[in-house]
Amino acid sequence: MQTLDKATSVPFVDLKKQYASIKPEIDAAISAVIEDTAFVGGVFVKEFEREFARHCGMSHCVGLANGTDALFVALRTLGVGPGDEVITVANTFVATSEAIKMAGAQVVFVDCDPRTYTIDVDAIGERITARTKAIIPVHLYGQPAEMDAIRALAKKHGLWVVGDAAQAHGALYKGRPVSQLADISCFSFYPGKNLGAYGDGGALVTNNEEWAANARMFANHGRTKKYDHDFEGINSRLDGLQAAVLSVKLRHLDEWTEGRRQAAARYTSVLENLGVITPVEADGVRAVYHLYVIRVPHGRRDALQSFLNQDGISTGIHYPIALPFLKAYSYLNHQSADFPVALRASQEILSLPMYSELTADQVELVAERIRLFTA
Ligand SMILES: Cc1ncc(COP(=O)(O)O)c(C=O)c1O
Repeated sequence: MQTLDKATSVPFVDLKKQYASIKPEIDAAISAVIEDTAFVGGVFVKEFEREFARHCGMSHCVGLANGTDALFVALRTLGVGPGDEVITVANTFVATSEAIKMAGAQVVFVDCDPRTYTIDVDAIGERITARTKAIIPVHLYGQPAEMDAIRALAKKHGLWVVGDAAQAHGALYKGRPVSQLADISCFSFYPGKNLGAYGDGGALVTNNEEWAANARMFANHGRTKKYDHDFEGINSRLDGLQAAVLSVKLRHLDEWTEGRRQAAARYTSVLENLGVITPVEADGVRAVYHLYVIRVPHGRRDALQSFLNQDGISTGIHYPIALPFLKAYSYLNHQSADFPVALRASQEILSLPMYSELTADQVELVAERIRLFTA
C-alpha cells in the first residue's frame, strides 16, 4: 500500500497555523494584559463581553470559565433545580447533560434527526412531563437545531430554551444568529472551537438584564462587592488573558467561518459518489462547520479511520458512544431501541480534518485516500 510523505499529512485541527497567521496581534494583546496585570475581571473581559454580545446580536454577555459552566449557570439562573427535568439530545458532548445534573435536575434524552444529527423535534413532545422545565437544543457540529419548532413547543408548554451553541459561534438560523433564538445561549471557547481561547473559556448571552446580572453574580461567589455576598455562588470567571486572545480572534471569526464553509463545500463536492454520506445543511440555516462529519455505511467506518490514519490523516468520532449508553447514564436503564438514530450514527460517523486554514490540496488529499479506500 502506498503511503504519503509526512509533509502531506493532514492534522485534524491546526492551531499552530492559525496562531502564525495572527501572531503579532495575539502577542501584543497578551502583553497588554500582563502590563496591566488585568488577570481576573477588568477592562479586557468587559471589552470582549461587549464585542461578543454584539457579534451574537444580544444585549448581554457574561464571560465564564468554560462552556460547561455556561450551561450550568444558565440553568441555575432560570431557576432549574432539584425535581425538574430538562430535555436534551442523545448525541452531544457529555457536558450538556452534566450541566443538567450540576443544576440538580434530571436529564431526559431524546433521539436525533438522521440527516442533521440535531434533536428530533417530533420526539420531544412525548418526553415532556409536568416536571419538564427546559429544553437544551444543541447546535451540533455548527448546524443550528430546528429552532422554530423547538420554540413553539417551549411556548406551548411554558418551558425555557437554553441553546448549547458551544460548537456554533456565528451560525445563523433563518438569517438570525442562533443565540437570538433561545432564552439564554451558551458558548465554549475551548481552544479547538471555532472561536477558541488559549486555555478554557466560556460565556452565556441573553437579552434579559436581570438574568445577566444574576448569572454574573452567581459565577462570582454571589458577590455584590468585595466581601459582601447576597448568596453562595461559584467561581467561574473568564480571565483577562483569555478575553484578550478572544477579542483578537473574534475580529477574524467571520472570515474563518467563511474558510470553514469553503472547505466544507469542497469536501462535499470531491466526496460525491464515493460511497460516503456527506453532511446536509438544513433549509434556511448557515452552518459553521465546527466539524465536517461524514457517514461511512456497511460497518466500514473504523477501517476507513485506520486507513486514513496510516497516511497521517487525522480524524475523530463525535461521539463514539451516544450519551444514554455511557456507563455514566446506566442508571437510566436505556435500551438500544430507545435511541436507534443516535446509536446508528455513533457507529457510522467520522469527522474529517476541518479548520479555516485547510487548503484545497489537503481536502483533495483526504478525498483521494477515501477514493482509494472505497474503490
Ligand atoms: C456541545 C458542547 N457542549 C458543551 C461543551 C462544554 O464546553 P467546555 O469544554 O468549554 O466546558 C462542549 C465543548 O467541549 C460542547 O462541544
